[in-house]
Amino acid sequence: MNHTIETLWPINLMHSRADDFEDERLYLLDRLAELKDQGHRNTAGVNSNTTMNGYQPAYDLCMDYFDSPLMKNIVDKIIIPLSKTYWVKLAENNIEIPKDARMIHKSWLVEYEEGTYQNLHMHHTSLFTGVWTIYLESQTLGNGELHLHNPTTSSHTLGFYTAVKKIPPVLNDVYVIPAWLPHNVSPASGKRIVFVWDTMVVPGN
Ligand SMILES: [Fe+2]
Repeated sequence: MNHTIETLWPINLMHSRADDFEDERLYLLDRLAELKDQGHRNTAGVNSNTTMNGYQPAYDLCMDYFDSPLMKNIVDKIIIPLSKTYWVKLAENNIEIPKDARMIHKSWLVEYEEGTYQNLHMHHTSLFTGVWTIYLESQTLGNGELHLHNPTTSSHTLGFYTAVKKIPPVLNDVYVIPAWLPHNVSPASGKRIVFVWDTMVVPGN
């Protein structure tokens, strides 16, 4: 996959496009409908989750890897290559980071309806996280945006943020960011569905 990596504050922001994965995109939308039909537990809007009013089934899509060639494609052709490239870029900037790493991925789906948003949060247990917009009704300006908060401004230590990178939602955009970067999503003004993955890095190859 083609990609760009922008140096943003002390971090890298990776952007890619998933236009060549239409079957995989439709597969994920079907899976979300299936999980909903089956009454799969919704983790949105309860303790320990920051998604408010949406639908986020407690299911790791990577579990479908061996049963679904389409999910295998998503892991092998999107998640792994982008995560590895992102890691290599990190290693380039820090000699203490080994060139190779053993990575573990988990993934999930989030459906935003009108008014659904995400509170400010970090993914504490992961190293970086990717998000692919797989369905998007048109949003009014400022709605459904991913907000990234600069952790190096002095105001950060006081608990608020003065430098925010705002990323409007675009169908098939894929972004990778550090999982520890504070981020939130502004309220959606129409339906919006994202596929998200987290990457953990463990010692050894
Ligand atoms: Fe997040």
